[in-house]
Amino acid sequence: NQRVLTGITTSGTPHLGNYVGAIKPAIEASRRSDTDAYLFLADYHALIKCEDPEQVARSSKEIAAAWLALGLDPAGSHFYRQSDIPEVAELCWILCCNTAKGLMNRAHAYKAAVQANDASNDDPDFGIKMGLFSYPILMAADILIFNAERVPVGRDQIQHVEMARDIAQRFNHHYEPLFTLPEAVVDDNVAVLQGLDGRKMSKSYNNTIPLFEGEKKLQKSINKIKTNLLEPGEPKDPDDSIVFQIWSAFADNEQRESMRQDFADGIAWGEAKKLLFKRINEELAPARERYQYLMDHPGELEDIMVAGAERVRPQASELLRQVRDAIGLRAYA
Ligand code: TYM
Repeated sequence: NQRVLTGITTSGTPHLGNYVGAIKPAIEASRRSDTDAYLFLADYHALIKCEDPEQVARSSKEIAAAWLALGLDPAGSHFYRQSDIPEVAELCWILCCNTAKGLMNRAHAYKAAVQANDASNDDPDFGIKMGLFSYPILMAADILIFNAERVPVGRDQIQHVEMARDIAQRFNHHYEPLFTLPEAVVDDNVAVLQGLDGRKMSKSYNNTIPLFEGEKKLQKSINKIKTNLLEPGEPKDPDDSIVFQIWSAFADNEQRESMRQDFADGIAWGEAKKLLFKRINEELAPARERYQYLMDHPGELEDIMVAGAERVRPQASELLRQVRDAIGLRAYA
């Protein structure tokens, strides 16, 4: 069976972009009989973006509940919290010791941070953190510790998966070939979903539509989606419309073409948004109840996560045992 692995950083409320780009395709992959799916909550990664313990704890719970409410079967997959597998953190340190700093200098996320901040600032409240700098190495540890072959991600994460591959190659060459070389899988049909303002939908931009807000709030969010101001009679271009892009992510081919026709026929923005709300609501309403139930029963969620960790942790410790031996951390003999 092919081993597929992906994670979501638990630093905010799950949104439509996470659903379309990661949760939905990962759940579909986990249902295929030729696939072993490893799906996890990247809560060590969350610490890079968030130092508020309450928010870290809440977001982890929300994202766990979202996966399960949307149909992930924890018995038919491997579903766990990254921080329940401390072997990941140990492997991250080992990989830090044989990854060139120059490789990390090239990471997009770090380069963007350097553009926006003074990289020599030594104040922990303002300076760039080591966690951000080493973020791709932690992600490599996530992937390599379970010997994942395929890593389904959105476009923004491709570079990180390539770095994981470089790091694995260096280790395999210098020590022993213990790591599988991973490959990023990007679904061309799943574009980067735009947010309310037309930039990528992202927790960092505060432009998201949360997955599980109430019906009224969902409608309100959808009404806030930016639309182009047009002269009376000027045609609406579906390919230049956030409303149409989000519609496409939730529609089948027939629905997509029918909305294209509605645009050509001059549908009003208010009407298009009403249809969009109905479509999204129809898809999410059944999951919303289950989400609320899980959020109200954290003990059940906790049991699922603990069982998931118990299931995968022996694999992680076995690989780490081999890694320790390969690098010379051994019992005296
Ligand atoms: P994160 O939490 O930023 O995003 C999780 C996944 O959702 C995708 N995504 C989107 N897809 C489409 N449209 C959008 N607007 C959108 N926003 C986010 C992302 O591409 C990603 O696939 N570092 C990772 C988490 C991670 C990971 C890993 C992933 C940690 N370790 C190992 C794979 C393998 C991250 O921060 O993703």
